Amino acid sequence: MSDLTDRLTGIVGPSHVLVDADLKAPYETDWTRRFTGEACCVVRPADTAEVAAVVRACADAGVAITVQGGNTGLVGAGVPAGGEVLLSLGRLTDTEPVDTVEAQVTVGAGVTLEKLQQHARPHGLDVGVDLAARSAATIGGLVATNAGGIRVVRYGSMREQLTGIEAVLADGTVVSRLVGLAKDNTGYDLTQLLAGSEGTLAVITKVRLRLVPLLPARAVALVAVDGVPGALELLAAARAGLPSLSAAELFLAEGLELVRGHGRLAAPFADEHPAYVVLECAARTDPTDELLEVLGVSEAVRDATVASDAAGVAKLWAYRETHTEAISAAGVPVKLDVSVPLRELAGLVADLPATVAAVAPAARPILFGHLGEGNLHVNVLDAGPHAEQVTDAVLHLVARRRGSISSEHGVGRAKARWLSLSRSDAEVAAMRRIKAALDPAGTLNPGVLLED
Ligand code: MLT
Ligand code: ZN
Repeated sequence: MSDLTDRLTGIVGPSHVLVDADLKAPYETDWTRRFTGEACCVVRPADTAEVAAVVRACADAGVAITVQGGNTGLVGAGVPAGGEVLLSLGRLTDTEPVDTVEAQVTVGAGVTLEKLQQHARPHGLDVGVDLAARSAATIGGLVATNAGGIRVVRYGSMREQLTGIEAVLADGTVVSRLVGLAKDNTGYDLTQLLAGSEGTLAVITKVRLRLVPLLPARAVALVAVDGVPGALELLAAARAGLPSLSAAELFLAEGLELVRGHGRLAAPFADEHPAYVVLECAARTDPTDELLEVLGVSEAVRDATVASDAAGVAKLWAYRETHTEAISAAGVPVKLDVSVPLRELAGLVADLPATVAAVAPAARPILFGHLGEGNLHVNVLDAGPHAEQVTDAVLHLVARRRGSISSEHGVGRAKARWLSLSRSDAEVAAMRRIKAALDPAGTLNPGVLLED
């Protein structure tokens, strides 16, 4: 191994090859604290040429690579299983000027979402994807996982924002297609193939994204409803009546109690309710009237509070956006991220508590997520030694309702065993052939997405 670390040191310099246990530690455990593994070293290249040289050196040495962006992933895809070189892309922060004619921008994989938002907004443009981990999540990681977040209802997931990519293949070859043509039918779309590939096919080093108009006027409603049926009724009204709809999120009474305790937040309403929906409208001019009109006629609304000033908007969003940190403060949850057709959502939510209790009687499921896509984050606290059984039971339940076992977080190591619940044997076999063609030695993120 020391031959390899010597070679890596020659490529990136001694201060960017970490072998000391204390220095490696922050890279070896994921944000949830559920996934952890030892890396033989952490390498932090500065640019694409250095990434290519690192990948080539690892290929020559026959040592596997774990690719890591902001380490905000939730499925164990960015931490080593044991013995890999951990390739951290956090120094790839090149940011090209915003192309206002194309409404596109090219940035390095290590740029955080928040930095990119700050880069685009002075030009009257914005990033179509947004999510709570914006300050740490990197653009390369968001593309590699095809991240979703809170604006999918309006702009789609990360792959919909993608117009070009630069990446390093498993043998160190650089493929680059960053011109960002709006139309380009010249064969296989490698850019889209890499979106959601979770670091298993290539290392993404640069990304070109389309930008959307900056919509500075926002109105947010926190709405109390009678449960998922009421939430879906409200969603239907919002979809039909709110051209400015930019988010539609869901959480339940148990989640509200947890975030209130964690963040010392005031009760949003005088009474408690079974479920809550956050609706956000974004436009060039204040969309509050449009939002109030829909809330005024929807019979699903049991109570509602609306804000359009920045502080009020942030206060309402906190009830939804602090779910992840409040859950994490309460323990190490089993994190499942599923989606079902909207007509199956109420049934899924109704079945989940008993399904979890049957295998982990003391467990506490906290359910929240992105209502518009039927995307439920099933976070199970106090599962104790039953994490595998909880995962198995919930994912089978989702599959029976024609859902996906990973809606937006990816498959990673956490769900690889269950991939066949969402993908047919023929599909998995085709994926394995693609993997074998691009990474014949299986060096890139082994065990992620496709089980070894
Ligand atoms: C969210 O929507 O808040 C995230 O996907 C994070 C999570 O599931 O914890
Ligand atoms: Zn989410």
